[in-house]
Amino acid sequence: MTSLPDRPNPALPDRDLAGRLRTPAAAADPQTRPTDIGHVIACDGTKAVIAALSDPRDDLEPAWAVGQMITITVDTRRLIGLLFKVEADQGVWTHESTNRLILSVELNGEIGCDDNGLYAFSSGMSVYPRIGAPAHRMCEEDLLTIYRARHETTMPIGVLSQARDIPALVSTDALLSRHFAVVGTTGTGKSTAISMILHKIAEQKPDQRILILDPHNEYREAFGDKAHTITVDTLDLPFWLLTLEEFARIVFRGEPPGGEDLDILREMIPRAKAIYRDGASGRMLRKPGGTGPALTSDTPVPYRIADLIQLLDEDIGSLDGARRRLATRQLKARFDAVVTDPRFDFLFGSRDASDRMSAFLGTVFRVPIEQQQITVFEMSGIPSEVVDSIVSVLCRLAFDLALASHSRVRTLVVCEEAHRYIPTEPDNAFAPTRAAISRIAKEGRKYGVSLGIVTQRPHELDPTILSQCNTIFALRLGNDADQDVIRRAIANGSRSAVAFLSSLADRECIAFGKAVSTPMRMRFHHVGRAARPTSQQARTSSGAAGSGVSMHQIVAQLRRERAPDPDTGSGANPGSSFQIDARRLGPV
Ligand SMILES: Nc1ncnc2c1ncn2[C@@H]1O[C@H](COP(=O)(O)OP(=O)(O)O)[C@@H](O)[C@H]1O
Ligand SMILES: [Mg+2]
Repeated sequence: MTSLPDRPNPALPDRDLAGRLRTPAAAADPQTRPTDIGHVIACDGTKAVIAALSDPRDDLEPAWAVGQMITITVDTRRLIGLLFKVEADQGVWTHESTNRLILSVELNGEIGCDDNGLYAFSSGMSVYPRIGAPAHRMCEEDLLTIYRARHETTMPIGVLSQARDIPALVSTDALLSRHFAVVGTTGTGKSTAISMILHKIAEQKPDQRILILDPHNEYREAFGDKAHTITVDTLDLPFWLLTLEEFARIVFRGEPPGGEDLDILREMIPRAKAIYRDGASGRMLRKPGGTGPALTSDTPVPYRIADLIQLLDEDIGSLDGARRRLATRQLKARFDAVVTDPRFDFLFGSRDASDRMSAFLGTVFRVPIEQQQITVFEMSGIPSEVVDSIVSVLCRLAFDLALASHSRVRTLVVCEEAHRYIPTEPDNAFAPTRAAISRIAKEGRKYGVSLGIVTQRPHELDPTILSQCNTIFALRLGNDADQDVIRRAIANGSRSAVAFLSSLADRECIAFGKAVSTPMRMRFHHVGRAARPTSQQARTSSGAAGSGVSMHQIVAQLRRERAPDPDTGSGANPGSSFQIDARRLGPV
């Protein structure tokens, strides 16, 4: 057993191992009086029970509350325990005299001397408390020792709930390299916490890209000039960047395409690409390939929808199988409908048929960074049935870009409402989105792509994704199923903490995992109104009573929403069925 060196820790006041100040003068001071609270009466290796005395007349004694930390002295070490249950012994309590309390704690680390003779915290325990070992309230120095920066780059994101003058520090590197999750019931402060964390990451890591997938269009306000915002009106996503499956998702508006439809597209898209690349010779060849390298339906090179439609037309004319002819005809009708649907202007509306891949990637992933390392990708204007296809494209590209740039373009992808894209039930999700997010979760670390997962329903989120998040900020969670998921996701030694997840205050959380030394009950910093995410609804309603209503915007929205019927191609735009608006086709 290592004995405590003579040399006192210069960073700490002269205290004995129980946390008492050694100088008699200090000991006489009621503020620094001994902090013994009781003695261990049971221990099972991970938990200990302490019998403590509490005098209700002693108003210097702060009330016990679950979530507080205590220490137990064992030889030269102090074991750290997280209080998860407080009871009056045998249910007896008197107002007049001292009471016996039974405190249950979960043991999750120890403070001892490190090689330099300084007090240091380590997770896990090298010794166990014996029966009768003295327990103490935790002194501030111990709290500082536990939570002080162990990592090179840390950021303060709040204060400890137990001692509000001690900053709650998290490791920036651990957050970015290992994925993190913020979970909690709606309204507890997830989005506000995320925006504060992202502000701090951006300050510390000027070359870290951050892509926020913002389903409620709420983050724009929180970042102001610091972020580049992409809205459905400014988005110009070349449709040819989509893989076959992503593209089919759009054409079939969220419905699964038939096998035959996919076969037809798989055959025709490379031909359309060859025509674009090789001009007339591509058409002559009538097969993918042409004069350049092989093209597949997933190769991200430009083609024109006009060519694709013409190829389908030619096919209808030349085919002899009635079944396939029907399938091709229906597919063409779907194309006509989607291409003329104003809601899909962000994909098909551009008149520019040139290769815009670098421009698109540069804008979304901030290359060059040009002062704005954050992209807020507003998704609420994107037709809901195809949002997952767009999320798939973005997550896939974030990974591919990191890979192709040899980790120089490192992106943190923040995915709000993550349970929508990666739900527990694989059948409820669009497989490519799930695959793209899982790929970042599993392999992103190697290339510098990380995930920030936000959800109010952790039990609806694929557990394999949560298990890849090595840091979890758990705000209040009332639902048992959600608590169970968090309990399973965290290390053994911290599971009792989950019991009080349902009673956390707003913007209070328990932070678990790699970015913190030990589970930390903390309260996020107050975030001023200007840096808080603001929902579109809140923005609109604040201006609704006055002259802030824009009829132009409302009409634009109505036009977007009146989409043609996908099966017939007819709808809001009379005469649009089976007609392609030439402006959408790009130069031929
Ligand atoms: N850290 C904070 N500082 C100031 N206000 C906060 C903070 N966290 C939450 N709030 C308040 O609570 C509201 C809801 O927070 P929000 O982050 O939108 O919750 P969630 O994303 O979990 O639904 C915010 O609009 C804000 O008024
Ligand atoms: Mg939110």
